[in-house]
Amino acid sequence: MSDRSTHWDQVYATKGEAEVSWYQDSPAISLAMIRAAASDRGSDRDLAIIDIGGGASRLVDALLQGGYRDIAVLDLSANALEAAKKRIGQAASTVDWIVADATTWRPARTYDVWHDRAAFHFLTDPRDRAAYVERLRSAVKPGGHVIIATFAPDGPEKCSGLPVQRHDSASLAAELGRDFVLVETRSETHQTPWGSTQAFQFSRFRRQK
Ligand SMILES: C[S@@+](CC[C@H](N)C(=O)[O-])C[C@H]1O[C@@H](n2cnc3c(N)ncnc32)[C@H](O)[C@@H]1O
Repeated sequence: MSDRSTHWDQVYATKGEAEVSWYQDSPAISLAMIRAAASDRGSDRDLAIIDIGGGASRLVDALLQGGYRDIAVLDLSANALEAAKKRIGQAASTVDWIVADATTWRPARTYDVWHDRAAFHFLTDPRDRAAYVERLRSAVKPGGHVIIATFAPDGPEKCSGLPVQRHDSASLAAELGRDFVLVETRSETHQTPWGSTQAFQFSRFRRQK
């Protein structure tokens, strides 16, 4: 096991769902951006969606409730995915659960939507960011959408005790390269379960080719 997965498996083994700073009851901005991508693609419920570093997030529950049928969740922590599966119950069998590191994973297929909330920002080494983008490029269909949420430039410098690289839409656009065009960006002041606030940015890009 890598140091990374040991850290995250430990977090999910010792903390309850609402005991982590990133917990959200309702992932409203993610859902709105995925719906916008679906409408742009014209494929709606058949959209292939992957949540990168999805952890135990409730986004997958909301997508299942919204009728989306082709959903994958990738995370390097098996414990995180087990927690989500347990919560969801029977419907979890329709989701593709992938235990992998987003910087070394070999995608076996392509997706219409790549969503990442608060995983990319842990990649503080430019080589890891380049490896992530290489995976993203092989997994996102031409015309597909990439939604990346990170701590904003005025957000915290650490998350889960680890240093983060904060971003805005311009720094993300530079990481993704010119094939990805910024479609929308939104700010969010996230309230942690204990009432403190964290500045996030959400950016959505469309792949040109
Ligand atoms: C702050 S949590 C966010 C979880 C979820 N996206 C959410 O919004 O609730 C970061 C997640 O990214 C995962 N993660 C961190 N680095 C990763 C990597 N290199 N590859 C895959 N997952 C990673 C962690 O295991 C953790 O579940």
